[in-house]
Amino acid sequence: MENKKILIAPSILSADFGRLEEEVKAIETAGADLLHLDIMDGHYVPNLTFGYTVTQTVHRLTKLPLDAHLMVTNPADYTEKMAASGVNFLSFHPETVFHPHRLITAIKQNGMKAGVALNPGTPLNVLNELLPELDFVLLMSVNPGFSGQKFIPSVTAKTAQLKQKIIALNLKTLIEVDGGIDVSVAPQLINAGADILVSASYIFSQQDYSAAIRNLRNV
Ligand code: DX5
Ligand code: ZN
Repeated sequence: MENKKILIAPSILSADFGRLEEEVKAIETAGADLLHLDIMDGHYVPNLTFGYTVTQTVHRLTKLPLDAHLMVTNPADYTEKMAASGVNFLSFHPETVFHPHRLITAIKQNGMKAGVALNPGTPLNVLNELLPELDFVLLMSVNPGFSGQKFIPSVTAKTAQLKQKIIALNLKTLIEVDGGIDVSVAPQLINAGADILVSASYIFSQQDYSAAIRNLRNV
């Protein structure tokens, strides 16, 4: 296994929103590296979450970098406001736009790291022309829409294939894997080359967030 630091990005989707401030601060103290924000519009996925009010509030509550995952049909409309509300990493699903290259450029021009998110059914070759432009790729290991779903095992091999492409092109693109990740699947993803692991239900279901984050990092 490579000796690099695995970044853990808890998703607040499974946090207690009645105690959002406490939850965000507890996750930061527990050693999270990024805070993952799942933004769903009820059209691209059959679920609604939150928008700028919450991203701005979270930005005020924490120094953690904010990693917003747009599951919306019109991601280009959100770029500037996401940057203004404190987001540092912004990913979108490429099938939601006509011009993914243009949107990647706009995200970077707004001072954010740009990523594309691939569903379990979306092949890696969608990335062929885009990979050199991307700061990160988000590989979904569940179908987007909800936390608490079961990890789809084929994503481990997909992670390894993507890692090979990144190495072959001599790029620094990070691989983020998102969905159904707990201690039983984290080691195989780290071995396959994942750099960032997202987790909502596993971390927030544990009493001790710090131990949960350490266990995912496998240290
Ligand atoms: C699903 C989201 C994921 C989800 C992860 O659409 O993109 O980030 O919140 O939740 P768990 O870790 O519970 O699968
Ligand atoms: Zn996500």
